[in-house]
Amino acid sequence: MDNNKDAVLMDKIVSLAKRRGFIFQSSEIYGGINGFWDYGPYGVRMKRAIEQLWWREMVETRDNVEGLDSTIICHPQVWKASGHLDQFSDLMCDCRDCKARHRVDMMEDPKICSNCGGGNLTEPREFNLMMKTFVGPVFDDEHTAYLRAETCQPIFVDFHNVRVASRQKLPFGIAQIGKAFRNEVNPRNFIFRSREFTQMEMEFFCDEAEGMKWFEYWKEQRIRYYREKLGFGDDFMRVYEHEKLAHYARAAIDLEVRFPFGWGELEGIHHRGTWDMSRHQEFSGKEQHYIDHDGQRKIMPTVIETSVGLDRTFLALLGKAYAEEPVENEEIRTVLRFPAVIAPVQLGVLPLSKKLSGQAGELYHKLNRYFRCEFDETGSIGKRYRRQDEIGTPFCLTFDFDSLEDNAVTIRDRDSMRQDRVPVAELRDYLESRIDG
Ligand code: GAP
Repeated sequence: MDNNKDAVLMDKIVSLAKRRGFIFQSSEIYGGINGFWDYGPYGVRMKRAIEQLWWREMVETRDNVEGLDSTIICHPQVWKASGHLDQFSDLMCDCRDCKARHRVDMMEDPKICSNCGGGNLTEPREFNLMMKTFVGPVFDDEHTAYLRAETCQPIFVDFHNVRVASRQKLPFGIAQIGKAFRNEVNPRNFIFRSREFTQMEMEFFCDEAEGMKWFEYWKEQRIRYYREKLGFGDDFMRVYEHEKLAHYARAAIDLEVRFPFGWGELEGIHHRGTWDMSRHQEFSGKEQHYIDHDGQRKIMPTVIETSVGLDRTFLALLGKAYAEEPVENEEIRTVLRFPAVIAPVQLGVLPLSKKLSGQAGELYHKLNRYFRCEFDETGSIGKRYRRQDEIGTPFCLTFDFDSLEDNAVTIRDRDSMRQDRVPVAELRDYLESRIDG
């Protein structure tokens, strides 16, 4: 795709996301705040659905992965041990003329300002990405704390608490979904790079000798998940193998997808060695080894990590789903072809006439217990179909006057626009077999 086409697509997605209540700029009436986004009524439905899908896949269907929900603020030493306070920084420089700020690694030419074209740049300097705050009534160095920059550090710190409480033995994993904060120099590409975002991370603890085996296992599992649950095929997702690794890492890959602006990182899968647990032992002074009673050995756990941004998953899904296509009367319909499992509304319930709202409403309340439903009785059926297409609803149910006689309804499929007559008694099975991811 060329740059111009990408930019047009991105603009369309940002504007649809706002208009239909998926994503708004945070604090918009005050002019917004760069790098922060709010999820509206459909956005939050879909966000929750993505979380649930991931949680089910990574925690609930596995006996050897436990969940955790830790605080956003931890003891500041956690970030000293993790290396974030000393090393988590970007090199940046400012343009003295137009005041634009640039990340040096992203500049095409480190001598020229890409904003104004001038050459009056400051020397590059380190810029730490940790967000600072204060805990308690005194605002001084002693009371400084940080918002977590990744959700995995509290997992390492809680490893033995979780292990003892859950009676897990190596190998096993701990998963967490939660907010992370980074003072990104250049938040950009909509929700791709923000300053506040949600991560879904799983840290798998094992014996060092088995590290590469588990790394390969999780790589395969995560690729299969995207293929089977979200329909990310080879034309949409690719594996990027890191040649230059973080100093502690043994192996690392990124799963990249085609975002509306081009290819970008969605998820990282990392073999982190024993670095995390050793560092927390060193900085806390608390023993972090695992005692293998069967083998009578002391093991410093090796960590395999899968780490994905929820917001990036959202953007990938929006970009992949967006389509404009001609329909009858040379109209263009805008449609989001979301997989049914994460669609904000899975079933639109539409009475053909307001006279049928009572009966259709009853059916809506019944079905809403099993699927994410929306009731809409306003406007022509055609208009209501278009509205549901635009928010990605895979199925619409029309309750008409015949329904009163034959106890059946019409189900319209978003993508094929095919309509099936389905007996009310069979609706739940009919929908379940098509919606389950
Ligand atoms: N614990 C490892 C870790 O945090 P990372 O590559 O820095 O690794 C993991 O981040 C994932 O978090 C990325 O693949 C991306 O999906 C998401 N992510 C990172 N920075 C982000 C940002 N500024 N905005 C949105 N998502 C981000």
